[in-house]
Amino acid sequence: MLGLSQLIFGRPEIMTQSLQSDDSVELQRVHALAFRHGWSAEEFQSLLSQDGVFGFAARFKNKPAVVGGFVLARLTLDEAEILTIAVDPDVHKQGLGRELMDAVLRHLYSERAADVFLEVDEFNIAAQALYRRLNFIKVGERPAYYETENGRSSAYVLRREIKQPK
Ligand SMILES: CC(C)(COP(=O)(O)OP(=O)(O)OC[C@H]1O[C@@H](n2cnc3c(N)ncnc32)[C@H](O)[C@@H]1OP(=O)(O)O)[C@@H](O)C(=O)NCCC(=O)NCCS
Repeated sequence: MLGLSQLIFGRPEIMTQSLQSDDSVELQRVHALAFRHGWSAEEFQSLLSQDGVFGFAARFKNKPAVVGGFVLARLTLDEAEILTIAVDPDVHKQGLGRELMDAVLRHLYSERAADVFLEVDEFNIAAQALYRRLNFIKVGERPAYYETENGRSSAYVLRREIKQPK
């Protein structure tokens, strides 16, 4: 089977669109490529039907049927949480992660959210680089939070303020 990078050509434009429940099968596919414990399409469908849950898919304009990456978040009152973000490894480091997080931050700004939190594995260098670029700061740590191939690792809790006009 051809990888996504073989189906797109050159440096095509990326577009982000709101997630819909019929994206669930594509979300399951991309999530399974990114994480050891993938979530099922039914789990995505159920999450997307919950109050305050929203997200975006990133697609290449010349291959719009295929999800290159996605982000899922929850907004409760004025506080948000990133539930998951995943980009197909075949198209890492092409700006999809950044576009997805920018879409979430724009949405939270328009919803007048105050801040957004997330958890990241202490050894996840790529994700930490992405969040640092977006001005997330470390506000806590959950020791031995994740189970990995090499034992347990801690989660860093990161926060980013959504600056609202006064
Ligand atoms: C983290 C992840 C979403 C990043 O997606 P991506 O599309 O490759 O990221 P981008 O191309 O938008 O890069 C965003 C920034 O992060 C940096 N970055 C991305 N991958 C990196 C890596 N492997 N090492 C160092 N920096 C990296 C980029 O350099 C970029 O910064 P820049 O704009 O200064 O160049 C992707 O690696 C992924 O899906 N990982 C597996 C799932 C995961 O870990 N999710 C996060 C759980 S908390």
